[in-house]
Amino acid sequence: MIKGKKIYLRPILKKDLAILNEWKNDEETFQNLGGGFMPISLDQQEKWLDSMIDTTGNNKRYVICKEDTSPIGMIGLYGINWIHRTSEIGVYIGDKLNHRKGYGKEACELIEGFAKEYLNLRKIKLNVVFNNEKATHLWESLGYEKVGVYKNERFIKGEYQDLILMEKFL
Ligand SMILES: CC(C)(COP(=O)(O)OP(=O)(O)OC[C@H]1O[C@@H](n2cnc3c(N)ncnc32)[C@H](O)[C@@H]1OP(=O)(O)O)[C@@H](O)C(=O)NCCC(=O)NCCS
Repeated sequence: MIKGKKIYLRPILKKDLAILNEWKNDEETFQNLGGGFMPISLDQQEKWLDSMIDTTGNNKRYVICKEDTSPIGMIGLYGINWIHRTSEIGVYIGDKLNHRKGYGKEACELIEGFAKEYLNLRKIKLNVVFNNEKATHLWESLGYEKVGVYKNERFIKGEYQDLILMEKFL
């Protein structure tokens, strides 16, 4: 596990299937994420579970857990490029009662440390939907810089939204 002060990160387990499915079916959480809001059944999600569990390749997903071991969200490094030493990052706190407690930020700091100190990555990139203020605050507070914008890139809740591109050198 990747241990922090208030939370820790651990690989996904088969027993996480139900909570991952509950979060995946939450419109508010998923509408601004890369795959968008796309409800799926437990059975369908079970088919994906093996690839989600696999942390040996270029995508590494971890469950964010509180000290009492309860899972509250997910974080991952995606599309790691071992030549250029870059990766994308994605995070959500699925349990909304645990928003604004510093858990999202600590999870990002933990995975950045892991990326730098164990994976020898040098830069992390991300995309954030323009009107996703919570996430924009999070990334700015972590030192990510805006480097561009895709205009009208995402179709969310009936409207096209700009997508902000951000990056951070570790
Ligand atoms: C974005 C998200 C992960 C933030 O997680 P969180 O645990 O609530 O955030 P934290 O408590 O760690 O706060 C991190 C920073 O963002 C700020 N922030 C968080 N929520 C905020 C809000 N609603 N309004 C203003 N600022 C906010 C905090 O003040 C903090 O900044 P600071 O350290 O300078 O004080 C969470 O809102 C979420 O899961 N959203 C849905 C999924 C999503 O949009 N993911 C990101 C996709 S790019």
